[in-house]
Amino acid sequence: MASPCKFLLLLTLSFLACLPLISSLSSVSISETSNQTLICALLESSRLNCTSFPTGIQIPSVNRSFSGIVAGDGFQCVLSFPSATIMLCYRFSANGTNMQSKRLYYNDSALTEVAAGNTHVCGLVNGTNILHCWQWRGFNSSVQSDFSGIAVGEGFVCGLSSIGRIKCIGTNSSSSSIILDRVPSGNFQKVAAGFHHACAIYRNQSLVCWGDTVGEEPQGEFVSLALGENRSCAMRRNGTVVCWGENGFSLPESLRETVFMTIEAKRSVFCGVDLYNLSLLCWGNEIFDSNSMVFPRVLPGSCTNSECLNGVVLGSGSMCGQGHICNAYQNLTVVEGPSQPPLEPPSPSPEVRNRSGWNDKMVAFLVVGCVGSASFLAVICFFLFRYCKGRGCSKVHDSGRLDEAGMPPEHGLSQRQTVQAQQAAPVLEKRLSQLVSLGNGGHLEEFSLQELRQATDDFSQEHRIGTGSFGCVYRATLEDGKEVAIKRAEVSTTSSNAVGTRRQEDKDTAFVSELDSLSRLNHRNLVRLLGYCEDYNEQIPAYERILVYEYMNNGTLHDHLHKLHSSPLMSWTNRLRVALDAARGIEYLHMYAVPQIIHRDIKSSNILLDASLTAKVSDFGLSLMGPEDEDSHLSLHAAGTVGYMDPEYYRLQQLTPKSDVYSFGVLLLELLSGHKAIHKNENGVPTNVVDFVVPYIVQDEIHRVLDPNVPPPTPYEIEAVTYIGYIAADCVTLEGRDRPSMTDIVHSLERALAACFTPPSPIPSPPVSRSTTGSLT
Ligand SMILES: *[C@@H]1O[C@H](CO)[C@@H](O)[C@H](O)[C@H]1NC(C)=O
Ligand SMILES: *[C@@H]1O[C@H](CO)[C@@H](O)[C@H](O)[C@H]1NC(C)=O
Ligand SMILES: *[C@@H]1O[C@H](CO)[C@@H](O)[C@H](O)[C@H]1NC(C)=O
Ligand SMILES: *[C@@H]1O[C@H](CO)[C@@H](O)[C@H](O)[C@H]1NC(C)=O
Ligand SMILES: *[C@@H]1O[C@H](CO)[C@@H](O)[C@H](O)[C@H]1NC(C)=O
Ligand SMILES: *[C@@H]1O[C@H](CO)[C@@H](O)[C@H](O)[C@H]1NC(C)=O
Ligand SMILES: *[C@@H]1O[C@H](CO)[C@@H](O)[C@H](O)[C@H]1NC(C)=O
Ligand SMILES: *[C@@H]1O[C@H](CO)[C@@H](O)[C@H](O)[C@H]1NC(C)=O
Ligand SMILES: *[C@@H]1O[C@H](CO)[C@@H](O)[C@H](O)[C@H]1NC(C)=O
Ligand SMILES: *[C@@H]1O[C@H](CO)[C@@H](O)[C@H](O)[C@H]1NC(C)=O
Ligand SMILES: *[C@@H]1O[C@H](CO)[C@@H](O)[C@H](O)[C@H]1NC(C)=O
Ligand SMILES: *[C@@H]1O[C@H](CO)[C@@H](O)[C@H](O)[C@H]1NC(C)=O
Repeated sequence: MASPCKFLLLLTLSFLACLPLISSLSSVSISETSNQTLICALLESSRLNCTSFPTGIQIPSVNRSFSGIVAGDGFQCVLSFPSATIMLCYRFSANGTNMQSKRLYYNDSALTEVAAGNTHVCGLVNGTNILHCWQWRGFNSSVQSDFSGIAVGEGFVCGLSSIGRIKCIGTNSSSSSIILDRVPSGNFQKVAAGFHHACAIYRNQSLVCWGDTVGEEPQGEFVSLALGENRSCAMRRNGTVVCWGENGFSLPESLRETVFMTIEAKRSVFCGVDLYNLSLLCWGNEIFDSNSMVFPRVLPGSCTNSECLNGVVLGSGSMCGQGHICNAYQNLTVVEGPSQPPLEPPSPSPEVRNRSGWNDKMVAFLVVGCVGSASFLAVICFFLFRYCKGRGCSKVHDSGRLDEAGMPPEHGLSQRQTVQAQQAAPVLEKRLSQLVSLGNGGHLEEFSLQELRQATDDFSQEHRIGTGSFGCVYRATLEDGKEVAIKRAEVSTTSSNAVGTRRQEDKDTAFVSELDSLSRLNHRNLVRLLGYCEDYNEQIPAYERILVYEYMNNGTLHDHLHKLHSSPLMSWTNRLRVALDAARGIEYLHMYAVPQIIHRDIKSSNILLDASLTAKVSDFGLSLMGPEDEDSHLSLHAAGTVGYMDPEYYRLQQLTPKSDVYSFGVLLLELLSGHKAIHKNENGVPTNVVDFVVPYIVQDEIHRVLDPNVPPPTPYEIEAVTYIGYIAADCVTLEGRDRPSMTDIVHSLERALAACFTPPSPIPSPPVSRSTTGSLT
């Protein structure tokens, strides 16, 4: 190994050895059933890989990053990346085939710490001091606590408070009293739980165990613990491990010299990450006697995007792909002594220093290491920043933006409307001819104003069917008998002022923009543009800009959901079909349009239905991104519709496809609940469908908010409907990164739709099995 490498390792090692650990999410998990052991780990880029002994258990492989994993008896949970706002758990039967999954946690506040006992899982919620436990009958699901670390055993959970005290909670006092009654007092830095016993490490690094302990705990100074059933292991300050317990349990000879970074245990199996080569080594059961190596290279901790209290693990940036691994030890000053943590028993700093073998050289290492880690982080940030700036970071076709050539020229405030229109016209003409000459534009028909006026009885009220993003929409039958929808840009004749001028320019821009993108798109689930008209109307007088689309007989989804009393959409299967159609249309815009098109205004009134109830997305090319200064509230409004708009986009003003995903999620919630995006609740208070419906989905109580106008879902449909609830909740996650892509959504909806036609399967395919019927417990 090259010497700089050794030096870095030495730094890490000295950190590990000398500083107390702070718990965080784990990158390794062990689960045992009566017959099987499943070991999972996060590998490069935080991808999950699991292996079972004997083989057989298949955790559905998802190409996704996770921020942590945790497992208990017969179940395996994964936490969403980069923040643990979702916890999804898979339960597998002893034979490993009957995989079922269920979302146990979903909240804007991430879990900062999770631990699983034998059948229970508990977690701490960021910023709330709340301890949540799941799969635990009789446990108050959320308990106020000041825990910074937790450990879960059989029927009890112990927490380490921020001031270093240990408190244990149990549901069945007769069986857990052995733990609850003997909780040691003192100042601790770490707590761990086995089956019927628990151990903790004092601030002075010595060890104490209580409960149904087996064997004498070793003496010495320790930094970490892993407890199984009647067996325990502890990690020394120098990273080596010592084990003790029933029948003289001890660490296999071959691992005695191994220096570990972390250790984990469940029942009889123990695993640790080798500090030098990051391989995952396991022991404790005869399977591992011959070969302890389970994975050649795993992450030594969970990757995160948040700041590290104690600096990053050196080199973890490249392992994580996104994010870094935080060093797992406390503030330097705690060990150095001068500033005591609150309630630390009087222990003079020289003593601490001596006892933990401190010398000036190690302090120097630590200081260098800290500074090094901090500058490493700073360098990463700097490059990320540069990278983002250089690439614009969201380099997509903003369907509302036009290149310079297409921009109408600026106009003076005092100029009259007609003059503006005429000045703008040549630019438009030029732009249009460009489009047509692109070749793709060849199939676009150019209509005369005369022809369209005739077809719509001079744009009469009778022909008017609605309003689109830039004007009124009319229904008409052309001379050849073809039914079309005609979108006519509003041409304002009000006296000119700054805002009016801007708006007019915006509308011109929208016209060309919509043509530009539309002329290149052809998909079954996109409303097709047939042609356009660009003529001078002497009556107004101004240039008219008109688009001609295929006509959609069955109107908007919005009307079917909220206006019509009888509709074919009063069926869950049909609603699902519509959702899938719309998702495919949007996916096409995101994935196959070149450059990518972000719709920016997905809503139920922009989803149209043709005669055969095929849903199509309309109104893409929305472009009123307009002025940035005086009119900013307008431009925001124009970039989406209230109730559907991605809060992240609103906040960051950064357009990504995930904003469409958010709006699509709102649309799904609307389909499920029958409520408008913004509706009045029973008290007349305007309510967002997201706030209203998602909590029910999270609690697996979607049946309580399903649209009452639709007959209750059949047993075939209930699974699909529940699953769509999950998809919708995923789509409206606050962080865009945590939302699925439209491709993911299309695949999920396809599976959900398939479930509507197959009886609920005893061996459901994993994703669809996230259902209320597939209870974990
Ligand atoms: C263990 O697995 C075998 C088949 O592999 C099965 O026959 C047996 O019932 C299982 N034992 C238990 C306790 O589940
Ligand atoms: C999981 O790890 C094993 C062993 O390292 C490897 O062979 C396999 O390809 C990995 N699977 C995935 C999906 O990464
Ligand atoms: C997983 O996704 C990443 C991008 O997120 C991609 O580069 C990689 O090829 C994918 N791997 C597999 C096996 O699909
Ligand atoms: C696996 O176990 C489940 C119940 O635990 C059972 O329904 C299923 O048939 C079993 N599958 C096999 C292949 O044994
Ligand atoms: C998240 O948790 C907090 C506190 O328990 C709760 O008030 C809030 O409603 C939850 N949010 C969601 C989306 O469940
Ligand atoms: C916890 O919450 C704080 C603010 O309340 C936030 O800054 C931090 O990023 C959150 N951490 C995680 C892991 O979500
Ligand atoms: C649960 O909470 C209720 C009141 O909030 C309390 O009366 C009860 O004792 C608690 N149960 C447990 C097991 O802590
Ligand atoms: C509590 O534990 C005792 C002894 O283990 C057991 O007999 C009893 O059924 C348990 N009670 C509950 C409510 O789980
Ligand atoms: C560490 O502290 C505990 C209690 O504070 C004490 O019982 C124990 O003897 C101490 N260990 C050493 C090695 O000083
Ligand atoms: C652990 O010890 C208890 C009590 O001595 C015993 O009943 C139990 O079977 C042991 N567990 C294992 C896995 O050996
Ligand atoms: C680690 O420490 C233990 C006891 O303190 C000692 O016996 C062992 O030799 C040390 N191992 C290494 C690799 O330093
Ligand atoms: C770390 O040290 C600083 C300054 O000495 C102190 O304010 C802070 O509370 C310490 N943090 C922890 C977690 O001990």
